[in-house]
Amino acid sequence: MLLHGRQGLVLGVANKRSIAWAIAQSAAREGARLAFTFQGEAVEKNVRELAGTLRRSMVFPCDVTDDGQVALLFDGLGREFGRLDFLVHCIAFANRKELEGEFSQTSRDGFRVAHDVSAYSLVGLVRGAQPLFPPEGASVLAMTYLGSTRAIPRYNIMGVAKASLEACIRYLASDLGPKNVRVNGISAGPISTLAARGIPGFTDILHHYRQRAPLRRNIDASEVGDAAAFLLSSYARGVTGEILFVDAGYHITGV
Ligand SMILES: NC(=O)c1ccc[n+]([C@@H]2O[C@H](COP(=O)([O-])OP(=O)(O)OC[C@H]3O[C@@H](n4cnc5c(N)ncnc54)[C@H](O)[C@@H]3O)[C@@H](O)[C@H]2O)c1
Repeated sequence: MLLHGRQGLVLGVANKRSIAWAIAQSAAREGARLAFTFQGEAVEKNVRELAGTLRRSMVFPCDVTDDGQVALLFDGLGREFGRLDFLVHCIAFANRKELEGEFSQTSRDGFRVAHDVSAYSLVGLVRGAQPLFPPEGASVLAMTYLGSTRAIPRYNIMGVAKASLEACIRYLASDLGPKNVRVNGISAGPISTLAARGIPGFTDILHHYRQRAPLRRNIDASEVGDAAAFLLSSYARGVTGEILFVDAGYHITGV
């Protein structure tokens, strides 16, 4: 039980295919008590049903673009949990039209929205969570993708927002390290989720990875969940500011 007695917040469950839910399942299996958030009524029922399958879980509304909702989330967590040992960020968004054409056509508003939801949100959430992190320290984890450092066709503004998210991970790790708060990222290979299916040509990407990755297969969300449990646990107590690839090795390949 890597996370026995720990309390964590998992943001970004939309349905049972969400990477956030795979991480939640691994963390719960390892003994953690969890709180979840949902954005909007469309996913509230799903999140409440999934959370209801875990013992002593809590559910809070939180649209990360709304500072008031972020503040209310941590007020509620403070009352119910008292302390937070880890925070898992599995949130990203870009307007669909920004993922269709060329990157050079990115609008000012599309650029802003993608960065606000997908990168700045980590900073705001960590700031809000800080008073709840115990003196022994805590662990923060965010989800990223290879499009942050490689130009992946049609990933466009999401790649640039992921580059920003990865820089935020390093700066937060530097700020919070003295308080024993570790901040890391997992760079996952493609997984068929709601957000991923919004990327045009996503099934071609899955196929390409299967052919090219050293393990010659796609990854499963549970593999991200288990890697996350490691990073959240004291087994990773010496690891911070790191991006761990869980992509069947695809990122090491050349021609
Ligand atoms: N699926 C993949 O192939 C893949 C690969 C690498 C990284 N990722 C990353 O994993 C994370 C989780 O995505 P997923 O693939 O599980 O898809 P998903 O659609 O299941 O999850 C995305 C979540 O973001 C939430 N969200 C969007 N805007 C929000 C807002 N304003 N406030 C609060 N929540 C908001 C959605 O409600 C949803 O729960 C994302 O950061 C994504 O970029 C996914």
